[in-house]
Amino acid sequence: MTEVTATAPGKLMLMGEHAVVYGRPCLVTAVDRRLAVTITETQSGKVEIKAPQVNNTQFVEKALKLGVKRWKIKHQGLLVTTQSPFSGKYGLGSSAAVVVASLKALVGLFSKKVDNRELFKLAYQVILEVQGLGSGFDAAAAIFGGTLYFVTGGRVIEKVENKGSVLPLVVGYTGIKSNSVELVKQVAQSRQQFPEKVERILQAIGKLVDQGCAAYIAGDWEKLGKLMDFNQEYLRDLGVSSPQLENLILAAKRAGAWGAKLSGAGGGDCMIALINSEVDQSKPLIIEAIRKAGGEVVEVIPNAEGVRVES
Ligand code: MEV
Repeated sequence: MTEVTATAPGKLMLMGEHAVVYGRPCLVTAVDRRLAVTITETQSGKVEIKAPQVNNTQFVEKALKLGVKRWKIKHQGLLVTTQSPFSGKYGLGSSAAVVVASLKALVGLFSKKVDNRELFKLAYQVILEVQGLGSGFDAAAAIFGGTLYFVTGGRVIEKVENKGSVLPLVVGYTGIKSNSVELVKQVAQSRQQFPEKVERILQAIGKLVDQGCAAYIAGDWEKLGKLMDFNQEYLRDLGVSSPQLENLILAAKRAGAWGAKLSGAGGGDCMIALINSEVDQSKPLIIEAIRKAGGEVVEVIPNAEGVRVES
């Protein structure tokens, strides 16, 4: 085979951001926006990357470099092209998805036997080498798909399943690009300055995630919504919320959401609202409220399939 295309999904953090960096669990779901990477064998003697929608091509470059080295791949030249239906602006995990899809396409092209655990280890290494920090939850979501209970560095990666309904979510984008690395550093600084207070918050978030996981499995969306609200209070205390996020969260709650919170590093990017799907008009009302409050509603379906080779 001289050409392989792999796709990987984006993600939404449901609960546990920031605390997950410090060894606590988080709950993350893969979403149906898939980023595609095609790798073609060429005779050019070099690795060429055409990734117009990817903000930072370092992720692809590093993935190729480490993948070729780790799996002892011999080639005469590679052309890597990406296609993405989602822009990096939303914070839906396009960097992790492009790393994972690149590694999977490489493995497919050179018929290497690599399981998901090994793929995760290398994807996480790529992310750490490019951005210097992070828990790796986004790479895990891109690889394993579904909804995951995840602990830093992949110490725990467990699929959580719910028998009944699809998680009823509405996602609102604030219009502001969040700087994850800076926000993680900001929390690290607060933790140094106020160790006891910040540790108490992180621990409390960890406990909420455990309860949230149980509520997810039970399909108890009302309870999960309440737990998300508590999670949001702690994120506010950590100083990572913003007026724009708070506006959208308040609007969604006033329109009848079970709960709402920021999703990801904070500062901007997206918020999520858990809707009361027992009320027919609930979803359109929440969508309208988020739009009126200045947010852009991003349509995604949670619990998407993990990375796969398409052709
Ligand atoms: C950022 O989307 C989520 C954080 O928890 C960082 C991470 O886990 O890598 C803030």
